[in-house]
Amino acid sequence: MTGIEFYTNGHIISEADSMRQKLGTLAKQYRATSAIIVTDAGITQLGYVDIAQQSLEEAGVNVVVFDSVVADPPIEIVNDAIKIARDNSCDLVIGLGGGSSIDTAKIVALHPNEFESVNDILDKDVSGFNKLPLFAIPTTAGTGAEATFVSVITAKDGSKKAIYTPKILPDVAILDATLTLKLPRHITAATALDAMVHCVEAYTSRTKKNPISDALAVKGLQMLWNNFEKVLNQGDDIDARSNMLLGSALAGIAFVNSSVAAVHGLSYPLSINFHIPHGHANALVMCGVFTFNLSAAAPLYAELAHAVMPSQTLGMTDLEAASLFIKQLKIFLETSGLKYRLNELDITDQDIPALADIVINTYARLIATNPKDMTLNEVTAIYEEIL
Ligand SMILES: NC(=O)c1ccc[n+]([C@@H]2O[C@H](COP(=O)([O-])OP(=O)(O)OC[C@H]3O[C@@H](n4cnc5c(N)ncnc54)[C@H](O)[C@@H]3O)[C@@H](O)[C@H]2O)c1
Ligand SMILES: [Fe+2]
Repeated sequence: MTGIEFYTNGHIISEADSMRQKLGTLAKQYRATSAIIVTDAGITQLGYVDIAQQSLEEAGVNVVVFDSVVADPPIEIVNDAIKIARDNSCDLVIGLGGGSSIDTAKIVALHPNEFESVNDILDKDVSGFNKLPLFAIPTTAGTGAEATFVSVITAKDGSKKAIYTPKILPDVAILDATLTLKLPRHITAATALDAMVHCVEAYTSRTKKNPISDALAVKGLQMLWNNFEKVLNQGDDIDARSNMLLGSALAGIAFVNSSVAAVHGLSYPLSINFHIPHGHANALVMCGVFTFNLSAAAPLYAELAHAVMPSQTLGMTDLEAASLFIKQLKIFLETSGLKYRLNELDITDQDIPALADIVINTYARLIATNPKDMTLNEVTAIYEEIL
């Protein structure tokens, strides 16, 4: 076995209503005097910022709110948040929201006095920077960003850039499922499928598969798989929501220490060029990519199939079990209410060459971790299959 270096949060709380009950006390433990809450306007409207602010203020911590994050956060928005943290001498950063808010908060926490613009640190080693204490409070059960040390932001040219260093791992992840009870069905489905893809891609990574990620990916996938239909049909089931939130955090820890792969590679151009939300974009391409990978990864997909469908896969060959696994993921997508054909999303065959070109030229790093190499023609064929 090759050597492993594994990073994860020092403190994870998984408990309903823990943000209201514990946030202020935790902030005091970090000797915070002025906290910035980094979030988006939708989260403010849901009242979650008020709950966080009240908990912090009751503990004597001043609060500044930055709620201008947007999906797939562009660099300018991250720069705006950094400026506010700097101007208010904030000494604690709290990312509250989906992956977009938490990823923005991660960059803000890289000490705001260390650099002017995110452009200055792209492709640079930031591991020696000072860092402010960082808490992450997810409101989607999907990206696992609260438990990862990557921040995905959008550069001026529209490409997704990853800032990747253990330095930005949140010090505390607060998994409070009450914050996910009002997640609309389409966001619940898309983010959950993102998390399942994280488990599968971590488990089948060509380059960084490791036993710790494997264990977390299997457990995470079981929690997500077994609760997926429940959260879609009974969104107010707090136990099911809690399981999804913990499952997605486990998936995050698994993939960030292993890797994601071609599903993410093919999904990014769909998000960037057509504004399809991250999880939905992954869900669109996942079955095509997994089917393409069968010749290289069927035994690994079969292991996952046995973990989530033990009785149905009893006695099956690897190929049979792996195929059933992909078929069930397809059923999850097709019954979730998400659109699953590109032409329903205003993407035509004329758009495909440009999409495939971006995958090969911009996201080669995500093909390199895929269990099987992919050519331009093969990427094109996967997109065509879901037209
Ligand atoms: N850092 C990582 O490890 C990592 C991993 C995967 C994806 N990502 C990134 O995360 C981003 C996607 O994050 P996301 O899928 O969580 O979505 P998001 O943060 O972009 O939010 C999507 C929408 O959901 C709404 N929303 C969030 N929580 C809600 C709730 N509880 N109730 C109602 N509405 C709610 C938000 O207001 C927003 O409108 C992308 O930029 C992607 O690249 C990061
Ligand atoms: Fe993802």
